[in-house]
Amino acid sequence: MTSDIPLNESPLGDSAAEGSSSAEGSLPNKVPEGTSAAEGSLPNKVPEGTSAAEGSSSAEGSSSAEGSSSAEGSYVLEAKEVGRDYQQGDSLLPVLRDTNLAIKAGEKLAVVGVSGSGKTTLLNLLGGLDDPSAGSVTVCGADWQGLGVSARAKWRNQHVGFVYQFHHLLGEFSAVENVALPCLIGGASVAEAQQRAEALLGKVGLGDRLQHKPSELSGGERQRVAIARALVTSPSVVLMDEPTGNLDPGTAGVILDLLLTLNQTLNISFVVVTHDPAIAARMDRQVNLIDGQLVELEAAVV
Ligand SMILES: Nc1ncnc2c1ncn2[C@@H]1O[C@H](COP(=O)(O)OP(=O)(O)OP(=O)(O)O)[C@@H](O)[C@H]1O
Ligand SMILES: [Mg+2]
Repeated sequence: MTSDIPLNESPLGDSAAEGSSSAEGSLPNKVPEGTSAAEGSLPNKVPEGTSAAEGSSSAEGSSSAEGSSSAEGSYVLEAKEVGRDYQQGDSLLPVLRDTNLAIKAGEKLAVVGVSGSGKTTLLNLLGGLDDPSAGSVTVCGADWQGLGVSARAKWRNQHVGFVYQFHHLLGEFSAVENVALPCLIGGASVAEAQQRAEALLGKVGLGDRLQHKPSELSGGERQRVAIARALVTSPSVVLMDEPTGNLDPGTAGVILDLLLTLNQTLNISFVVVTHDPAIAARMDRQVNLIDGQLVELEAAVV
């Protein structure tokens, strides 16, 4: 299954303009039909301790990129023996092969690699936006491939935040609406969603741009809106594809500090694709994607 924009960033349909009369930051009062958090058949929470114990031995010894404690601890994110080939005419283009990864709660991982090595492909698989050709990906104890479409969308809304390489903001919606949308879809009230969105936009330095639409924002401002949107639900893990790629060094530093603060206070795990050595060095671990596999790099000296 492939989808460019997951449900937690789906359009609101026709209701965006309604209720926008109040001066500041009004939000659409309706989530589109079929996107309600009430859908889906999953339990709200995976029972504690179920994710780490199951099947943790199957990945033994096959990759250098697994968590530092192999069999213990509860992993927020696990990829086991993951492969991804793309069909190109009559032949297959192998991009990932036998890739293993395990991320604990609160852990921060940098993924580096040359252009075309498969970093975005990997993030899409980790977030359940795409299915592997081989292997499995588990988030908070649930294997993406065991989930139906709406259950997958609900699980993603609850547990995963995305910052895309090309941010995918919704052009018809304001900054505050874009950021609030995952909260609304997750079942928050309009007031709560708006309050959370405004607070996060303030933290990324956009408190005076709440009503701007993406076309009215600079590239770096759009990227900051996308970062706020990824964090607004306090997900278990945030997957980021070059999150500061459009930012000047000063702003990138501020955003990185914010991300690290949220990582500590909310215990959110990060997987960050980056070409910026300064960002990579501030993660707990760094892996390099080479020839379709993740190779652990030595711990960075900060
Ligand atoms: N849908 C697709 N069909 C066929 N090939 C694809 C598809 N998507 C990606 N690829 C190929 O897979 C390889 C990995 O692409 P990917 O976007 O994951 O690279 P990347 O590491 O994110 O690169 P960059 O740093 O430039 O963003 C590339 O060679 C690309 O051409
Ligand atoms: Mg990419």
